[in-house]
Amino acid sequence: MNILANSLCLLLIQSFIFISVCQFVPDPRYEQTSILVNTKIYFFGGYTNNSNFTNEVLYLDLSSPLNTNEPLWVKNPIGIPSEEVLTTSCLSNIDNSTVFLIGGQALEQAKQIINAQLVYTFNSITSQWTTINTTGFYNYSIALSSLNLINNVPTSRVSYTATLLNNSLIIYIGGFAQSDSGKTNVNMSEIQIFNLKSLSWSSMQINADKIESRNAHSAVLTNDGRIIIFGGSSTDETARRTTLRARPDVAVLNTTILPYEWSIQNISLANSPQSLCYHSAEIYNNIMIIAFGIITSDQLQTTATFNNKIYLFDVQNYVWVSSTSPTTTSTIPTSTTEQTSSNNSSIALAIEIGIGVSGFIITLSLIIAGFAYYKYRKLRKTIVGMPGTDSYPIETPGTESHK
Ligand SMILES: *[C@@H]1O[C@H](CO)[C@@H](O)[C@H](O)[C@H]1NC(C)=O
Ligand SMILES: *[C@@H]1O[C@H](CO)[C@@H](O)[C@H](O)[C@H]1NC(C)=O
Ligand SMILES: *[C@@H]1O[C@H](CO)[C@@H](O)[C@H](O)[C@H]1NC(C)=O
Ligand SMILES: *[C@@H]1O[C@H](CO)[C@@H](O)[C@H](O)[C@H]1NC(C)=O
Ligand SMILES: *[C@@H]1O[C@H](CO)[C@@H](O)[C@H](O)[C@H]1NC(C)=O
Ligand SMILES: *[C@@H]1O[C@H](CO)[C@@H](O)[C@H](O)[C@H]1NC(C)=O
Ligand SMILES: *[C@@H]1O[C@H](CO)[C@@H](O)[C@H](O)[C@H]1NC(C)=O
Ligand SMILES: *[C@@H]1O[C@H](CO)[C@@H](O)[C@H](O)[C@H]1NC(C)=O
Ligand SMILES: *[C@@H]1O[C@H](CO)[C@@H](O)[C@H](O)[C@H]1NC(C)=O
Repeated sequence: MNILANSLCLLLIQSFIFISVCQFVPDPRYEQTSILVNTKIYFFGGYTNNSNFTNEVLYLDLSSPLNTNEPLWVKNPIGIPSEEVLTTSCLSNIDNSTVFLIGGQALEQAKQIINAQLVYTFNSITSQWTTINTTGFYNYSIALSSLNLINNVPTSRVSYTATLLNNSLIIYIGGFAQSDSGKTNVNMSEIQIFNLKSLSWSSMQINADKIESRNAHSAVLTNDGRIIIFGGSSTDETARRTTLRARPDVAVLNTTILPYEWSIQNISLANSPQSLCYHSAEIYNNIMIIAFGIITSDQLQTTATFNNKIYLFDVQNYVWVSSTSPTTTSTIPTSTTEQTSSNNSSIALAIEIGIGVSGFIITLSLIIAGFAYYKYRKLRKTIVGMPGTDSYPIETPGTESHK
């Protein structure tokens, strides 16, 4: 009996190791878009090394503990109808499960890059896609005149972040601004603000000493009103694969005080990530989850190295951590009905998860993203070019030339 138990145990351990080793590892990528839907972070598309643009849909389920060494990636069985990069994603606040993918660049049939014409919706429950036929989405001039927005309109820009606060202000940080002399990174002391209630622009000049100007960084909003930015590229060189690390990697904008205040924390190097740009950042339970992107360094890089790792940052204690702890524990295994990339990963999920029925956690950004889409989609999508989700910088060369 004992021997049987022991061998069974050994077998379990062996298959555990085997399965863990065979865990699905996604290709490195950048310019994907990400969005948090209930407990899952979805990643759509992006530029991968193997196939250039990808239509892959991946997700990480945060209802079970997440470990940076072995994240349980799941590839959704159905990809985006087309291969896309630099798309904006936002969540419907009507059902909290439908994701809208808007704009970006797509590969058309002859593999030519085009500005994506279509809006897709993704039902995260059924994995079904629908295509929405839209008109007039991209015309900056039409949107400007219809909204009668003439005062304080900022210069057109790309690769910035747009973060919606709970007081209906969208905060624009960084990015490339278009000027007569070309494109230059926006000074971090210049904060552009769009008020969704009064439909008006304003700007704020604040001290940003020691925070290098950057584009292709990320921004997440904490529930106590701090915007945490990470990464980005500080070079004025516009080729997307030419990058230079922007220092510091992490900076914090306090929006609960007027004028807003930048601060730089003293963050331990333990578990700290590679410096990145064109990555994704989402926030869940006070943990900022960074994924993918181009790895930057202190020397100008003209060829890009892509990342497929994830990194976790505790936004309350300002420390990088290697894993998240489960929000609640339970002996009931989580459902493994989603189709995983291989049978092995379903088994791995069943074995490794085992715990973790999460509470229903909603971040402000979710509510707001959906809200903003429905109420202000024209504004978000046309006036400001292509604002990212609350956390992802978007670059759309197709809208750059409109002033
Ligand atoms: C995809 O990669 C191939 C081979 O590197 C290259 O020739 C092609 O131009 C790339 N396509 C795009 C759209 O970048
Ligand atoms: C979606 O989330 C919002 C914000 O928590 C909530 O008020 C609303 O009831 C949810 N809607 C559905 C259909 O679950
Ligand atoms: C979108 O609608 C227009 C007008 O109804 C139609 O001409 C066009 O073919 C439609 N495009 C797609 C992609 O369905
Ligand atoms: C946008 O609309 C304006 C005004 O109707 C028009 O002059 C312009 O050609 C349009 N631009 C594009 C790219 O369609
Ligand atoms: C940003 O603007 C501030 C204030 O105008 C200025 O002191 C600082 O040198 C600028 N930084 C850069 C990188 O240009
Ligand atoms: C809005 O955010 C602030 C922090 O910036 C917080 O103190 C306040 O409770 C929030 N208000 C609502 C209605 O969520
Ligand atoms: C933000 O500003 C408020 C008001 O001055 C202050 O109480 C709070 O500690 C600040 N937060 C951070 C993270 O600096
Ligand atoms: C940052 O923290 C480390 C370790 O706690 C400490 O040794 C160092 O002096 C701190 N640096 C600054 C500028 O506060
Ligand atoms: C792309 O793949 C090739 C061959 O596997 C490799 O040499 C190259 O470093 C990869 N490039 C990036 C950016 O990952």
